[in-house]
Amino acid sequence: MPQFIVQTPDGKEHRVDAIAGLSVMEAIKEHGVEELLAICGGCCSCATCHVFVDPSFAALFPPMGDEEAQLLNDSGLQTPASRLSCQLPVLAGLEGARFRIAPAG
Ligand code: FES
Repeated sequence: MPQFIVQTPDGKEHRVDAIAGLSVMEAIKEHGVEELLAICGGCCSCATCHVFVDPSFAALFPPMGDEEAQLLNDSGLQTPASRLSCQLPVLAGLEGARFRIAPAG
């Protein structure tokens, strides 16, 4: 099974199984990474699943929707690499991709 890498804000890295059918957020939570809060459970209403996406993999994902863009803008922590991980499907091409969890806002 492909794996991607998640880095927590304190720099610790986890190799996460990329389970087809889940979102990146769900795969990270399934792995037990507690630093990703994902409080709304994937409803795109909290921004606590904010991650910075490896630029070389960013183009794999669907474009950002209006709600996601607004939440990231409101977070005050947005960078060009920002996405909400609940809006990112696990894809076959994610082997070795890196996601860094954004610090708490
Ligand atoms: S889990 Fe709340 S916006 Fe992603």
